[in-house]
Amino acid sequence: MTNNNNSVLPSNDLYTLMRERHSVRHFDTEFVISEEEINEMIELAVKAPSSSNSQSWRFLVVTDKELKKQLKIVADNQQQVEDASAVFVILSDMKFYDKLDEIFTSAVEAGYMPKEFKDEYVPNVTKYYQALPKEQFHESVSFDAGLVAMQLMLIAKSKGYDTVPMGGYNKEKLKMLLNVPDNLLPLIILPIGKGIQPGRRSTRLPVEDVLTWNQFK
Ligand SMILES: Cc1cc2nc3c(=O)[nH]c(=O)nc-3n(C[C@H](O)[C@H](O)[C@H](O)COP(=O)(O)O)c2cc1C
Repeated sequence: MTNNNNSVLPSNDLYTLMRERHSVRHFDTEFVISEEEINEMIELAVKAPSSSNSQSWRFLVVTDKELKKQLKIVADNQQQVEDASAVFVILSDMKFYDKLDEIFTSAVEAGYMPKEFKDEYVPNVTKYYQALPKEQFHESVSFDAGLVAMQLMLIAKSKGYDTVPMGGYNKEKLKMLLNVPDNLLPLIILPIGKGIQPGRRSTRLPVEDVLTWNQFK
């Protein structure tokens, strides 16, 4: 595992990973991350919480060299998109409620909830989401996607890989390039690979600038 100075991190400790993760934009173009490892990272990342356990996130992983080259163009020519081993496209399923029954049936089968609860809960939750105003619906799925994206970045870091979350791309052009179905909305793209140059250092606002206790004045 490497940090921004390319030295070995002392541990896989969460605090260290959070301090050492930075957006990396220069990747080893020859380095390949196996499908098995990508599956493993996603399997762990989806332990993230989500609204009603809806798991509204979907992942498209682009590894094809030619597609990455074209995706770079869609992403304002940001070179990291072409150079990374893979680019995760994190999408929200705007019809995620179609899978609620599957999700809660598996919870029943695992013995986590009674079937009677599931039979009442799933139709109620489905109606709730279907009736939500567009803005609130979007807020909910975006929140889920943000949580899973952060998990992925930390998991990648713990495996010695680097990432950069990216919103700088044209959604419509990306959808066309990658044949994204209408029900899926791209939210963020996440190139991942072996960093060959540290990320730009960044600072954070002091805690007193972002923390308020109890009530705003
Ligand atoms: C929603 C979002 C969109 C971003 N879009 C881009 C992008 O298009 N290109 C890029 O190079 N970095 C992008 N970043 C990375 C930020 O610039 C970076 O996270 C921030 O400067 C803090 O630096 P750090 O990640 O190295 O700690 C984005 C980050 C977020 C969370």
